[in-house]
Amino acid sequence: MSTVLVTGGSGYIGSHTVISLSENGYDVVIVDNLSNSKMEVLNRLEKITGKRFKFYNIDCCDTDALRKVFEENKIDSVIHFAGLKAVGESVKIPLDYYSNNIGSLISVCRLMSEFNVNNIVFSSSATVYGSSEDVPFTEESPLGVCTNPYGWTKWMIEQILRDYAKADPSKKVCLLRYFNPVGAHESGLLGEDPRGIPNNLFPYISKVAGGTLDCLTVFGDDYDTPDGTCLRDYIHVVDLAQGHVKALKFLDKTEDSVSVFNLGTGKGTSVLEALNAFEKACGHEIKHVIGPRRSGDIAVCYASTAKAEEVLGFKAQYGIDEMCSSCWKWQTMNPEGLKD
Ligand code: NAD
Ligand code: UD1
Repeated sequence: MSTVLVTGGSGYIGSHTVISLSENGYDVVIVDNLSNSKMEVLNRLEKITGKRFKFYNIDCCDTDALRKVFEENKIDSVIHFAGLKAVGESVKIPLDYYSNNIGSLISVCRLMSEFNVNNIVFSSSATVYGSSEDVPFTEESPLGVCTNPYGWTKWMIEQILRDYAKADPSKKVCLLRYFNPVGAHESGLLGEDPRGIPNNLFPYISKVAGGTLDCLTVFGDDYDTPDGTCLRDYIHVVDLAQGHVKALKFLDKTEDSVSVFNLGTGKGTSVLEALNAFEKACGHEIKHVIGPRRSGDIAVCYASTAKAEEVLGFKAQYGIDEMCSSCWKWQTMNPEGLKD
């Protein structure tokens, strides 16, 4: 059985990926410092999969502590999710973002070299395309100028991994550029559990629908789009998780040292369409007002999915209705998120 080290594995995307890996016959070791997730995720994973995954509460930046994981487990490949991801926060505490996101990646790569682990899948983001509106974004689209330190960490890590693979031909890197991951596990046991007031659309809508927040502000309705609100490529987190399994299988057979794939649906959904779909899922109106544009937002962002389809055999199965209904189930079953 092949063993995958999943850093950040108790987080939102990591935990859903652990389920997909387990369903596909992989053994999983999770490392997470719980800076943005809770131990309860491990219990939920056990309920869903019937397995108790090996878990280390370790900061990936701490190379010596992380070495123990490589010593105690025969790791075959790594999926590196561990990182800080709040765009606004990254503007306020840039050094924390650079040191955590880049430091953890370098530490993981050093240990991969030390223990002859060759394959790594990295969580990148569509944010590396910058503010270009030349959509759909293909993997060949030029990398843009990021608008915040979070985005730059993704941009820089992509470059670090390219250099790492160039220097050591045994290494194989897969950069996955996620578009907008949303939704939750069908059981309602796992989902996105942000601390404090959410910044992103789906967690915010969920909380307004559930009554914890009062009203959604739609950030601008004067964009050059069909209904004036921004279009995004929302992808169900369960589809996204499956994309990681495809990426690992691909790394086993490819000769290429670095491969890049967009993970999206290829479809743009407006803020108002997302809101309407959520109202349908929860069965009642969701209070909202139109506000000013949010600085840094682009009008339209969606993926070309051709390469992921052709090369990885990846195609998202779920649409906006399933994304909303799973979010709503998660919200109603866990109105205050998971307990610490
Ligand atoms: P998340 O915050 O839910 O998960 C990240 C996990 O990493 C958390 O459990 C956190 O505790 C852990 N972590 C952070 N720094 C760590 C460190 N130094 N050592 C050990 N653990 C650490 O976020 P997510 O939404 O699951 O995102 C996972 C990855 O995907 C991140 O790298 C994120 O930047 C990237 N990504 C996310 C999105 C998105 O919209 N959610 C989009 C594009 C890319
Ligand atoms: C945001 C980040 C992006 C990051 C991604 C990860 C910004 C500018 N961009 O993308 O770098 O990779 O999250 O998930 O923060 N909206 C509202 N009202 C709200 C919240 C959002 O109208 O209360 C709108 C936004 O204007 C946007 C859409 O909903 O048009 C989606 O927003 P969000 O979920 O924050 O994602 P992105 O901005 O696409």
